[in-house]
Amino acid sequence: MGERPAIIVGQCTPAILQQAALRGSSVPYCDGDIIEVIITQQQIAARIAELAQQIAADYRDKQLVLIGVLTGSFVFLSDLMRQLDRPCEVDFLDASSYGNSTVSRGQVSITTSLNLSLTGKDVLVIEDIVDSGRTVSELVRLLQAHHPASVKVCTLIDKPARREIPVELDYIGFVIPDQFVVGYGLDYAQCFRNLPFVAVLDEDVAVPKPPTSE
Ligand code: IMP
Ligand code: MG
Repeated sequence: MGERPAIIVGQCTPAILQQAALRGSSVPYCDGDIIEVIITQQQIAARIAELAQQIAADYRDKQLVLIGVLTGSFVFLSDLMRQLDRPCEVDFLDASSYGNSTVSRGQVSITTSLNLSLTGKDVLVIEDIVDSGRTVSELVRLLQAHHPASVKVCTLIDKPARREIPVELDYIGFVIPDQFVVGYGLDYAQCFRNLPFVAVLDEDVAVPKPPTSE
């Protein structure tokens, strides 16, 4: 993907650090963490334009409803819908994975407070990233119960190496290897969502950095 600039994040997220400090959080994990950009802002914009064109053509005669999966997908959804040259409705679902190592590891919790009726409509789920596939498969199952005409899935990023549940992805922005990525809506411990590109975190990001001797 061409040149990949390394960036020191701490210098561009002072507001986040300040918020963390106000919350009494022991972070500041953002400060000085080195990330490597793997998908640039320009690459994201170009790919979204292509996806939007494809989706607009595929849903030409349909009643399209975009369902964003909170929180990560809101950035992707807002850019995608503004490139979409056709009418659509928008709603959100809140999904989060939870678990501890002994009991419910890998389970997905979905909070649904959909404002729209989906009956007879064509639903397109908008995800930030598909990893194990658990979230998407659970979401599709839940949405089917609302009797839509169809349910399809559009994800900005696909990480197929870690798939545990087979899922059908109808629109994919980028396929990446098994790496933990942040930016463009994707977080690490709620940080980094505001970065305008997608980046890989330095592998020692979560480890407190010892003071240097110099
Ligand atoms: P699943 O394993 O396919 O259910 O993935 C569910 C969720 O995990 C995604 O929607 C993201 O919120 C989160 N996730 C998975 N991989 C990453 C990553 O590389 N960076 C940030 N969040 C991730
Ligand atoms: Mg998510």
